[in-house]
Amino acid sequence: MKDKPKFDGYAAQYDEWFMKNEHLFTSELRLFKKVLGDITGKRLLSVGCGSGLFESFIDCRNIEGIEPSRDMGQIAEKRGVNVIQYGTIEEADLPENAYDIIYFNGSSSYMEDLTPVYEKSLRALKTGGKLILLDVPKESAFGFMYLLGKSLDTYNHEFLQGVMPELPYPLALASSGVWHSTEEKITVLKDLGAKNFRYYQTLIRNPMYTNEEPEEVMEGYKSGGYVAIIAEK
Ligand SMILES: C[S@@+](CC[C@H](N)C(=O)[O-])C[C@H]1O[C@@H](n2cnc3c(N)ncnc32)[C@H](O)[C@@H]1O
Repeated sequence: MKDKPKFDGYAAQYDEWFMKNEHLFTSELRLFKKVLGDITGKRLLSVGCGSGLFESFIDCRNIEGIEPSRDMGQIAEKRGVNVIQYGTIEEADLPENAYDIIYFNGSSSYMEDLTPVYEKSLRALKTGGKLILLDVPKESAFGFMYLLGKSLDTYNHEFLQGVMPELPYPLALASSGVWHSTEEKITVLKDLGAKNFRYYQTLIRNPMYTNEEPEEVMEGYKSGGYVAIIAEK
């Protein structure tokens, strides 16, 4: 029997968390928009499109989505994302040389083995197409916080007292994450022959201050709590 998708039952909590952490969301949305760039006339695939929350802030008519959780994907469809498959990227059958951009916004953090999924994505990209990976890096303050919460099975512990954000990311979703480092993802992509790497980041502040005001997008990947890698086929 197939495992229950990790996000089933969390659709409302997921969106609500971003809406309550409004400034954090704005910072991530700025990064998302910056790295996608002008998508006019392009064919895009969002792997793990979730509820299509980020897509709902851009013109998503040309965005296809893959999403294992029906709860999440049905909201994405209502928001205008064309969900082509309810299932995982591992199970998906993608056309070759078809997309201008394939992106994973936060979804690599729920995948064990990145090599086959990035390989499949690169095959599905046109030559010169972009693979864009946005995530909380394992090595960031957010990554440490989620791993500590996961290993303690609570955020309510003396180690974390007085240093947590007011509304932390739901513990169940932090715990089901497979947090990868940015270097790990770069190595996988380089081994697969991806090129012309660029990096952008946001959420530079420590997590307990992140939601005080929106942050700007900066180049690089070594400081941010949300980092984007752009690589080309
Ligand atoms: C952190 S959420 C991000 C959702 C959405 N992209 C966003 O930014 O709001 C991660 C998403 O990845 C999806 N996901 C998890 N494992 C996946 C897999 N193997 N293939 C495709 N999507 C997956 C989850 O169901 C979830 O919707």
